[in-house]
This record gives sequence, C-alpha cells and structure tokens, in this order.
Amino acid sequence: MLEPAGRVILVSGASRGIGRAIAEELYRQGYAVSLGVRDPAKLAGEFAGWDQARLHIAPFIAEDWASHRSWIDAAAARFGRIDGLVNNAGTHSKMTLRAPDEAELDRVWAINCKAPLNLIHCAMPHLEASGAGRIVNIASLSGKRVRNDMVAYNMSKFALIALNHAARRIGWEKGVRAIAICPSFVSTDMSIGATFPFDEMTTPQEIARLAATAIGLPNNAVVAEMLVNCRLEDTL
Ligand SMILES: NC(=O)c1ccc[n+]([C@@H]2O[C@H](COP(=O)([O-])OP(=O)(O)OC[C@H]3O[C@@H](n4cnc5c(N)ncnc54)[C@H](OP(=O)(O)O)[C@@H]3O)[C@@H](O)[C@H]2O)c1
Repeated sequence: MLEPAGRVILVSGASRGIGRAIAEELYRQGYAVSLGVRDPAKLAGEFAGWDQARLHIAPFIAEDWASHRSWIDAAAARFGRIDGLVNNAGTHSKMTLRAPDEAELDRVWAINCKAPLNLIHCAMPHLEASGAGRIVNIASLSGKRVRNDMVAYNMSKFALIALNHAARRIGWEKGVRAIAICPSFVSTDMSIGATFPFDEMTTPQEIARLAATAIGLPNNAVVAEMLVNCRLEDTL
C-alpha cells in the first residue's frame, strides 16, 4: 500500500455525508486533505481541533468552473502537490421520463457530471506529477443498472462512470488511477425518505474505508469499479 504521510487528497462536498466521512478517514490515516465546500466559513469551527498543517478548506461550487480552478490552484500552492481527487459532491433528482424538465436536467448534469470532468481536467497535471495520482468518483449503483424511475439521476451516474473510464485511460501512462465507487443506499441526508430502512443502509464511514483503500492501493493493483450493496440484487 502507498504511504499516506505527505500525500495530499482533495475531496469535493466534504461538508457532510459521504464526503465528510472520506475526509475524516483520510485525515485519520495521515493524509493531508483539501476540502472543497460551498461555504468554508460555516465549517471552519468544526475542524478547529485538526492539525492545520494537514488541512485546507476552499470554496467549491459545482456550477462555478472558476471555483474549480481556484480550489485546485490554492491546494497546489498550499501543499506543493496534489496526489488525489475525490469527486464526491452530488445531487439527487426525482425527475422522471414521463415528466422531463430541461432546467432540472441541466442542474443535475452541471453538478454530477460537468464539475467532476472539469475538476479532473484541472487536477490532472498535478496527479500526473505525483506518479501515483488517484481519482475516486463517487458514482452509484444507479450508474450500473436502472431500478427506479429517476432518470435524470440515473443518467448522470452512468455518465460519471464513463468519465471514470476516460480518466483511467488518459492518466494510466503517468501512474494516475481512477476508481468509481458505486454504492446502493448510504445513510446520509440524501437517502432520508428512501423506501429501504435507514439503519440497514451502508454507512458513510464504510464507503470512506473503501475510498481510502482505493487511494492507498499501488499502481499495479487497482480496482476500476467498486460495487457496494446493502441488499441482495440478482447480480449485485
Ligand atoms: N446517499 C446515498 O444513498 C448515495 C448512494 C450512491 C451514491 N451517492 C453519491 O454520493 C455522493 C455524496 O452524497 P451524500 O449521500 O453524502 O449526500 P449529501 O449528504 O446530500 O451530501 C451532498 C454533498 O454534496 C455537496 N453539494 C451538493 N450540491 C453541490 C454544489 N452545487 N456545489 C458544491 N457542492 C455541492 C453538498 O454540499 P452542501 O453541504 O453545501 O449542501 C454535500 O457536501 C453524491 O455524489 C451521491 O450521488 C449517494
């Protein structure tokens, strides 16, 4: 496994839920973390007890591409390197095929697909310079099969997995590895009200352990997709 000390990992949407759990797990393991969040001022107090030498918090607004560039540049300036990017920030949508809404499609596409693409683009020179750069895309089993009517969300997660494989291809020669983590239900704000019992869902901490494993695996032992379920499905 790669040694965490000295490695710098960026996590988008680290304010709560899965992103927050990933940030906490990576920090616990010894990484330096740069957290991209919509409202850094709101969060600052919550990280007061952390070693500030291994913590950076910057504004990240998925729909604002200028914030992507300024976050990556600020993290690189702060630590002198970037070894990993976790594309976690995401949004849900109940839009169905029987009631399409162009504005809603655009909103979901901007957050779940366009922002991860541009963050990968901005981070790639740093990830290549690392020699063991890692990209973790928090996709979903909704990007692997269709079990419900929420077509905008499902389409966005299929597209994110396509992006994951595009990143695997272009980064491979310089040691960049891309991993899509595809959970079913995870017990966060996003899944409150789902039909599945909340206390039987995969926890954010369990997804965080998988993300840390993906980041820690060496260049010659990489899992391209991690399919994670909390219930039995025919093939998953
Ligand atoms: N929960 C599940 O069952 C489940 C299953 C499979 C995959 N996922 C995926 O896991 C990822 C994390 O979801 P979660 O369950 O942790 O959800 P969550 O608790 O709702 O957290 C979503 C995170 O994304 C951030 N975010 C949302 N819109 C944003 C925007 N426009 N710009 C910047 N940040 C934005 C939120 O920031 P704020 O705090 O500022 O709102 C928050 O940090 C998502 O990509 C989701 O699709 C979740």
